[in-house]
Amino acid sequence: MFHFRVAVASALVCLGMVALARPAEKPAGTPSGLSREQSLPSRYPFVVEDALRHCQPSKGFWVDLGAGKGQVAIPLIEATGNAVVMLDPNAEALSAGLRAARQKGLEDRLSAVVGVAEKMPFPDGSVDLVISRGSIFFWEDPAAGLREVARVLRPGGKAYIGGGAGSGFPQWAAEELIKGRQARLHGSEAAKWQRFVELRRPQQMQTWAEAADMKEFTVMGKGAISAEDPRVGQGVWLLYEKKTL
Ligand SMILES: C[S@@+](CC[C@H](N)C(=O)[O-])C[C@H]1O[C@@H](n2cnc3c(N)ncnc32)[C@H](O)[C@@H]1O
Repeated sequence: MFHFRVAVASALVCLGMVALARPAEKPAGTPSGLSREQSLPSRYPFVVEDALRHCQPSKGFWVDLGAGKGQVAIPLIEATGNAVVMLDPNAEALSAGLRAARQKGLEDRLSAVVGVAEKMPFPDGSVDLVISRGSIFFWEDPAAGLREVARVLRPGGKAYIGGGAGSGFPQWAAEELIKGRQARLHGSEAAKWQRFVELRRPQQMQTWAEAADMKEFTVMGKGAISAEDPRVGQGVWLLYEKKTL
């Protein structure tokens, strides 16, 4: 069932109080092929760690845009205690995220809204942090979505939008991830994977941000098949700070 609740800032927010779990060792017997990527350590805690380091967000109204099942929102709440609102067109995924949060006792911190990036149902200048992982590449109009991000952020608010595994993701795991993707670029679904890589090029992100008239932004990362940028590790990210209303 779709659940809607207006986000309110938690009085209990305490940024960075909870340590993030870090898988250290490569598990023995890592399988080959497609299942290999799924067997790798979770990327989400590392993404959250990078987002907090790059954004240093003020506590308040935080949005996980294209949140899916709350894969980013939940570790973000666990790491900071700040409430998060998930926005996604997929109500079923949002419901799964709300259930997962309830199982962890975080139901008072996670809310959900069905909607799209291109028409965010939030007032101008109201949001302190927009975090979005793995979603912009699916938006019908990424530039329109980024324009909306700029609209809803309050001055001083930050956005961290893109996709990737995080700079703390173990090097062996990033290498496995990239190796698998490189192999798929020449496999039976080559066209699909080439498109996947194309959409995640830093130049593409730059083009979307410029088309959205964003002024203060940085593109980090070298894309889906590189982990060479130590700021973010594997992937590509847009860091934006709203300067004026
Ligand atoms: C690959 S999933 C990523 C989910 C989650 N953020 C993660 O990192 O695992 C992409 C998500 O983007 C959502 N999405 C697709 N189009 C969207 C749009 N126009 N605005 C917002 N979210 C959208 C999808 O419903 C899906 O949940």
